[in-house]
This record gives sequence, structure tokens and C-alpha cells, in this order.
Amino acid sequence: MMKLALGVVLPGLQEDWFILIPLKGAECWKECLKLLNISEASVSSRESKNLAQENCVDELLVWRRGILRPATTLRNVDILTESAQNCLGECRIESIDKEAASNLIPNICMPYNSAIYMPEAININPQPYLKALFFASENLAEELTASGYGGKEIYLHKMSVNRLLELGGEYNAVIICLGAKADMLPELSGKLPLRTCRGVIAHLQLPQDIRNEYGEHSPSILSDAWIAARGRHNLVIGSTWKWRSRNYSPSVSAEEASMALKELIPKVSAVYPHIQNWTFTEARAGVRAMPPKTPLGSLPLLGCVDDFVDGNYRCKYWLFGGLGSRGLLYHAWLGKILSQAVLSCNESLIPSELTSWRKLQ
Ligand SMILES: *[C@@H]1O[C@H](CO)[C@@H](O)[C@H](O)[C@H]1NC(C)=O
Ligand SMILES: *[C@@H]1O[C@H](CO)[C@@H](O)[C@H](O)[C@H]1NC(C)=O
Ligand SMILES: *[C@@H]1O[C@H](CO)[C@@H](O)[C@H](O)[C@H]1NC(C)=O
Repeated sequence: MMKLALGVVLPGLQEDWFILIPLKGAECWKECLKLLNISEASVSSRESKNLAQENCVDELLVWRRGILRPATTLRNVDILTESAQNCLGECRIESIDKEAASNLIPNICMPYNSAIYMPEAININPQPYLKALFFASENLAEELTASGYGGKEIYLHKMSVNRLLELGGEYNAVIICLGAKADMLPELSGKLPLRTCRGVIAHLQLPQDIRNEYGEHSPSILSDAWIAARGRHNLVIGSTWKWRSRNYSPSVSAEEASMALKELIPKVSAVYPHIQNWTFTEARAGVRAMPPKTPLGSLPLLGCVDDFVDGNYRCKYWLFGGLGSRGLLYHAWLGKILSQAVLSCNESLIPSELTSWRKLQ
């Protein structure tokens, strides 16, 4: 039996916006919706089976309210108009003016009277989503076993690994999905062209006695900062960009939170001045693994890394990294491609733009 190990670090951030994607935007969007659909179905099947509370996902996986992207500079007006014309396949994009935007989001401020609106854009809650994907994989293994395709099993082992080589004896393939932490593995340390970038997000609440709630169905906003709407009295705003940070902790100190708010509130206020009446409740942080800029954009880093580990080429160790802040967008499509490459032991199945980073090492 083939044994695969998959290392995962849960991302703390959620800020994938389906816009200006250099690589296969339509394909990414389609695969992402497919996985989302599968994970939502797995949650409802768990709920209908009424499994123990500890196994349940009790938070929403996704908010479907659309996203509004107002222009914040004159230059951006043109870029946005252009991206509205180059729609991402299934994901509709409309150019709208201030009046139309105010109907969607009361009290929105639009300095350049121009915005794009993506009615089908979504905002994903990454941790419950990953949990649900794992349920879905368990369900699939069970179904395959029940229908006579034995030998498919899936386990979650929570353990510390000091070196990749420790996994080499037991597994046929090891896929490293450690985000910015991939660089902490001794075999990969200093060899990946990744820059870390810490981001803080803040949860805000509107006190009950203050009017002007966020619209029940109003879209989220993507501007110089973003607002992810979670309800009339709950918003999440983000995100900051602290390059080369080595602080991997999801916790945010009071001081870091206050610095983040100082940076975020003015950016959010420029498009949504009412934010000033909202109160801060908590902050979380995550670290992006930013890949280098190439003429094709900032592309994820994929491929076989056997040569970094022990120099034997057997297609055993694979990297899935450098997704930057676009992991939610890229993960499904790239995950599918990478799994095909791993199972057929053929790296050429991965687009060469994504594996060419190794030639530069
Ligand atoms: C999602 O899954 C349901 C069945 O569970 C199906 O009817 C629907 O078409 C799917 N949607 C997409 C976008 O795949
Ligand atoms: C804050 O709320 C008060 C009371 O509802 C209102 O008068 C004021 O205009 C609000 N401030 C902003 C910046 O929205
Ligand atoms: C690997 O995949 C490429 C691209 O699809 C294909 O051209 C090549 O024949 C494959 N190699 C092997 C050994 O299967």
C-alpha cells in the first residue's frame, strides 16, 4: 500500500481575493468551489449523523455575500475597469458607480466614484474549512471501503518532526505544506526563495446601542485594507504586512494589536467611515510565505525536493509552498495537479513556471 505524509500548518489569515490572478484564475476558482462544495457536504453529513460535538464544525465555512472593490487611486480605476472586462470565467465582475455601491453597502465612501463588484465572490473561514475537508477525506475512504475498494485509509497524526528524513522510512511520498515554516526544516532551511510576511487581522463589533449596523446582505470590501463581513454586528478587518517577521505565533499582544489598528483603521475609514464606531474584540496573526516576483507574477513554489533531502531522485519529497496570501485561491487546483504528479511520480505534470524556482538555487 502506498503511504503518503502531508504536513499542514493551519493558516491564521483569510484574505484571498479573486482578482488579478496571474495564473489560471478561472481554473482555480472552479476547483476551489468544487472543494468547498465537498467540504460543506461533509459537514452536513456529519451533522445529520449527529456525531459527537467535538467532531463538529460549529462555525460557518464560508460567507457568500460578494465582494466590492472600490478604486482608491486614479490608477486603480483603470486596472479595475480592465479586470472587470477580463472576467474570471464563472466569477462575474461588474463595474459600478457610487450610487450602485451605496445601494449595496449603505455609507460606503468612494473617492473615485468607481468600483467593481463580484457578486459571487466568497470569503472563506480557513480553519473550519480545513477540518471539513479532512472529514470529507475520511468519508471518501469509508465509502470506498464500503463499496469494495479496500485499502484506503486516512489518519491524522499530530506529531513533531525534526527532519524530513525521519518520515522517509515509513512513507512512499511526503508532501510538505508548511507555509512559511517550511524553512524551519533543516533539509530546506535557507534553500527556499521565500520571504516571510506577518499579517494581523482584527475582529470588530458594533456596540448594541449604536445604529448603522452593517447590511445583512452587504458584500465584504476589498480596499487598501479589507473588511470581511460576518454579520450585522461582526466584521473582520485586515491585514498588515510585516516583512521578514520571524514571529510565527497566531497570538497578538496588546501592543501589536494596537499598532495593527493604527494602520488598518485609517485605511478602512477611507471607504467605510462608520468603522470608527466599532470596537475591537480580538486580533489574530499568521505568516505568509511570499514567493519571489517573476515576470509572470508571484507564483507558488512546487516540485520534488529530493535533491535537498538526500540527493536520491525517487520523487519522494515534494514541496507545496510559496502560496503567499493566495493559498485559498490556489490550493484546490494546485493540490489536484500535485497529487497527480506525486502518484504518477512525474514532475512534468506540474506547470514548469511553478517548478522553475529550483533552477535558480
Ligand atoms: C454542489 O453539490 C451539490 C450536491 O451536493 C450539487 O447539486 C451542486 O451542483 C454542486 N455545486 C457545484 C458548484 O459544484
Ligand atoms: C457613530 O455613531 C453615532 C451615534 O449613532 C453617530 O452619530 C456618528 O455619526 C457615528 N460616527 C461615525 C464616524 O460613523
Ligand atoms: C510525464 O508527464 C508529461 C506531461 O504530461 C508527459 O509528456 C510525459 O510523457 C510523462 N512522463 C512519464 C514518464 O510518464
